[in-house]
Amino acid sequence: MSTYAKPTGRRLAAPDITVRKGQVPVVCLTAYTAPMAELLDAHCDLLLVGDSVGMVVHGLPNTVGVTLEMMILHGQAVMRGSKAAMVVVDMPFGSYEGAPELAYANAARVMKETGAQAVKVEAGPTIAGNIEYLVNRGIPVMGHVGLRPQSVLVDGGFKARGRTEDERRRILADAHATADAGAFAVVVEGVAERLAREITEAIAVPTIGIGASAGCDGQILVTDDMLGLFDWTPKFVRRYADLRGEITRAVGTYAEDVRARRFPGPAEIYFAKAG
Ligand code: KIV
Repeated sequence: MSTYAKPTGRRLAAPDITVRKGQVPVVCLTAYTAPMAELLDAHCDLLLVGDSVGMVVHGLPNTVGVTLEMMILHGQAVMRGSKAAMVVVDMPFGSYEGAPELAYANAARVMKETGAQAVKVEAGPTIAGNIEYLVNRGIPVMGHVGLRPQSVLVDGGFKARGRTEDERRRILADAHATADAGAFAVVVEGVAERLAREITEAIAVPTIGIGASAGCDGQILVTDDMLGLFDWTPKFVRRYADLRGEITRAVGTYAEDVRARRFPGPAEIYFAKAG
């Protein structure tokens, strides 16, 4: 296994991720808040301010309702909390699929108001022209193919993709179009392992897998999933902690202590000054 040392004294940027194709896997996680970004920063190459924030933090049923303002606010928080990892902000549904000028205005606003190093868009041949338009005007873009959460209302829900020949061909074409349009990396979500490997071999930029096997050039997970904050997680998530259990235990103990007047105790109160 080859080793990898992050550059020091500056944040990673798109070219640092692109050169990692076929090298040491790129470590990515989602982040939505400053304190979490601070905890993840030293361990991750890339922090994604995913529009999953709508479901994870705001309790929305899917990502369709997420707004540009929400993404900017969370992007600013993650930039404040981190200093070494590249920060990528998701463009929300409805902000980049139409006229290229509008996609540019929205993406430029995200870049200016957050200070992030790139944006991410859910991609395919119809979006490729807009990706090229943004990249040619100085905005690094990460693509996202396979299961595209912003399209679940037409694609038929959160389920694995690319398991039929038709879907396999379509997703491979999406990945090619996205990379050819100038994306610096492509997230591949919820696809069969064979297809993930095929895409990784076919395109020149790194693939970042989520539910797409170790055949990708990097991995990403929703941080709250891998920390065990939810009682249900998809099959592809490995739980590295049980924060839900820890929080339940801690809050239960706090409630018992308050009700029994054990909290606050002498160490947790102020005393009047003598005299
Ligand atoms: O919004 C998000 O968190 C994402 C990741 C799942 C890749 O797009």
